[in-house]
Amino acid sequence: MLLQLSTWKEIEAYLERSTGIIIPTGSTEQHGPNGLIGTDAICAEAVARGVGEEHGVLVGPTIELGVAQFNLGFPGTVTMRAKTLMALVEDYVRSLAGQGFERFYFLNGHGGNINPIRAAFQDIYADRGMTAGLGNRGGVRCRLRSWWEYETANKLRHDLYGEWEGFHATPSEVAMTQHVYPDAIKNVAMEKPRHVAGTFYRDFGGDNHFDAADHRRKFPDGRIASDPSLATPEAGRKLIGAAVGDAFADYQAFLGED
Ligand code: NI
Repeated sequence: MLLQLSTWKEIEAYLERSTGIIIPTGSTEQHGPNGLIGTDAICAEAVARGVGEEHGVLVGPTIELGVAQFNLGFPGTVTMRAKTLMALVEDYVRSLAGQGFERFYFLNGHGGNINPIRAAFQDIYADRGMTAGLGNRGGVRCRLRSWWEYETANKLRHDLYGEWEGFHATPSEVAMTQHVYPDAIKNVAMEKPRHVAGTFYRDFGGDNHFDAADHRRKFPDGRIASDPSLATPEAGRKLIGAAVGDAFADYQAFLGED
């Protein structure tokens, strides 16, 4: 059930049976030699919409821009500053919270969004706590989960691609976009990627990269240790299916939390 294809009467009726909503979050940034610029938004949206279609969960409009300043050296990348994304998330949640929504499940496709979105959650709670004090229980709760964190999907991507999964412009995310948009598949020759240091994830995980000039110099074709030439639409179909199953279970658990 998509919010933008619903009427306000339908949303009013939905609120009678559920106060939860799934909101996909992505990025508009380069994704290597054969990856679409919309990859992160496409992946998150595909998983969210899969849950919506199979289980009647309401899915809100995708936040297609993310925090991706490090990719601005590659044409086509559009970033939000972290504070812009925080403000956007806060306005999104507050708008719907005023109408009775209480559980906001952000299904994320981009590492750079994780810190700002979680910081926005803290500001939402802080407002409530500072105005209402500790006696105010229940109410709005937010969660962010990135699709690659889901156990089944995470195992599958590593089973499929092993060391070639890498960190950015991964074969798994490219495969997912190939399943969703088969007419946009790009056949591009590429070499095996360079490996990164064992400390890479510690220092740069969650897209905690330096500036755009540095990033382009270090990763000239946009990939980070990945081989997206291995992507296939069939693998993408399986990955989305795995993530949909995991996401629904996780969302249900979130709704049921005390
Ligand atoms: Ni990505």
